[in-house]
Amino acid sequence: MNKPLAVNRIHRIDALAGLRRLEDNSVDLVVTDPPYNIAATDRITMKSSKPLSTMEAWGHWDRFHPFDYDVLIMQVISECHRVLKPGGALYMFTAREQSGYFVRKAIARGFTYRNQLAMVKKNPLPSLSKTNWRSAFELCMYLTKGKPGVFNFISQTECKNVFHYSNSRRATKHPTEKPLEFIKLLVQVSSNVGDLVLDPFMGSGTTAVAARDLGRGYVGFELGRDYIKMANARLKTGCHTGAGRRAA
Ligand SMILES: C[S@@+](CC[C@H](N)C(=O)[O-])C[C@H]1O[C@@H](n2cnc3c(N)ncnc32)[C@H](O)[C@@H]1O
Repeated sequence: MNKPLAVNRIHRIDALAGLRRLEDNSVDLVVTDPPYNIAATDRITMKSSKPLSTMEAWGHWDRFHPFDYDVLIMQVISECHRVLKPGGALYMFTAREQSGYFVRKAIARGFTYRNQLAMVKKNPLPSLSKTNWRSAFELCMYLTKGKPGVFNFISQTECKNVFHYSNSRRATKHPTEKPLEFIKLLVQVSSNVGDLVLDPFMGSGTTAVAARDLGRGYVGFELGRDYIKMANARLKTGCHTGAGRRAA
């Protein structure tokens, strides 16, 4: 029998292995941004202000055989459903081309579909080839385990399913760091102070920082040693909530 995982920590462990160590109905909210499996030689991103293919920028963790990718995401969705408390929410980012597919699969695994949220970039990358539309938004599915337990409606303006952001204010060198303000909004709306927030693909720790800043506990998984260092450096600054709880 494995020891329970310490809360308010990012564990260097595979997402599925970490999820399997959590008890049923033990997590209040999952916010996660798994690999999209879109790294390719002809998809361009920016690294240190230089255009670079997504394969070169993040290929090592964003490249899967399509079948393996499906299996991974489906298992993650099933495990998230198992560990969430009834009424708990799952926010999961997906690549645009896969979003509807995974929403349908999540419904088949028992989740209730609530909405799709769009994160719109104010400063999208220019289209270098000028042969396609500029990519200016990302999608995040919002699902709950049964009827939603917590929805702290803030205002008509803030609770629209479109969120505008600029990706020029980044805290780390992680290539796909998500905007902290958006992740904080999700945590604020779909959990309460003292709740436990899980992110099985922590990256630079954005979910952990959001949870910590809002007085929630967190538990996270990440394989990249350098990414965990980045996340822990972020977590060293700013406010802290009490540590020491254990994930059930
Ligand atoms: C899209 S990024 C997450 C970025 C994060 N939302 C942020 O704001 O920094 C996905 C992360 O998942 C990690 N990862 C990939 N496969 C994993 C696995 N099987 N288990 C745990 N982490 C994994 C990658 O190293 C990468 O940092």
